Amino acid sequence: MSAEPTKIAMTEFNNSNLETLLTEEQIADRIAELGAQITREYADKDLVLVGVLKGSCVFMADLMRVIDLQLTIDFMSVSSYKDGMKTTGDVEILKDLSKPIREKDVIIVEDIVDTGLTLTRLVEILDSRGANSIKIASFLDKPEPRIKTDLKIDYTGFVIENKFVVGYGLDAAGRYRNLPFIAIVKNPDEI
Ligand code: IMP
Ligand code: MG
Repeated sequence: MSAEPTKIAMTEFNNSNLETLLTEEQIADRIAELGAQITREYADKDLVLVGVLKGSCVFMADLMRVIDLQLTIDFMSVSSYKDGMKTTGDVEILKDLSKPIREKDVIIVEDIVDTGLTLTRLVEILDSRGANSIKIASFLDKPEPRIKTDLKIDYTGFVIENKFVVGYGLDAAGRYRNLPFIAIVKNPDEI
C-alpha cells in the first residue's frame, strides 16, 4: 500500500504568500504581560482605552480582557492624508469619540506605528481635550520608517523589522485582518 501524498489545502490562513512572523501563542503571552503591566500602573486611575479603527480591533479585544481594572473603551477612526505615496501628517477624523475624555487617563490603542505621523497628530488632537494623561499602546512598532522620532510608545507588543505585515487586525487592501497570527506578505504585488 503506497501512502497518498499529503495535500495541504490553500486557505486564507494557510496561504503561500504569507510567512508567519508571530504565532497566536507568542501574541497571547506578550499581551498578558502588557495587561499585567497596565493593571499595575493604572490601579488608581480613571482609564479609557481609545482604539484606533479598524486595525486595533483585535488587539483592543484581547488587551482589555487582561486588564483587571474598572475601565471604559471608546473608538476613533482617522484617515491619514497621503500626497502620492507620502504621508503628509494631516489627519482627518472620520469617527470621533462618543464621550469627552476630560480628566480621564487615556491609553490610545493602535495596531502599528510606522512613520508615527498619524499617532503624533492624534495625540495632539486628544491632548487639546483636557485629558489627565495620554499614553500609547501599540501592538507593533516598526521603527525603521519613523519620521516622528520623538513619539514615545509607552506599551509595545513587539518591535519588528521594516516588512509589510498582516493579520491580527492589520490589513493589506482590506484583506487579512481575520488572521489570528501576524504574517509577512512575501509578495505584496500578489494581494
Ligand atoms: P503611520 O505611523 O502614520 O505611518 O501609520 C501607521 C498606520 O499605517 C497603521 O495604523 C496601519 O494602518 C498602517 N500600516 C503601517 N505599516 C503597516 C503594515 O506593515 N501592515 C499593515 N498596515 C500598516
Ligand atoms: Mg491604523
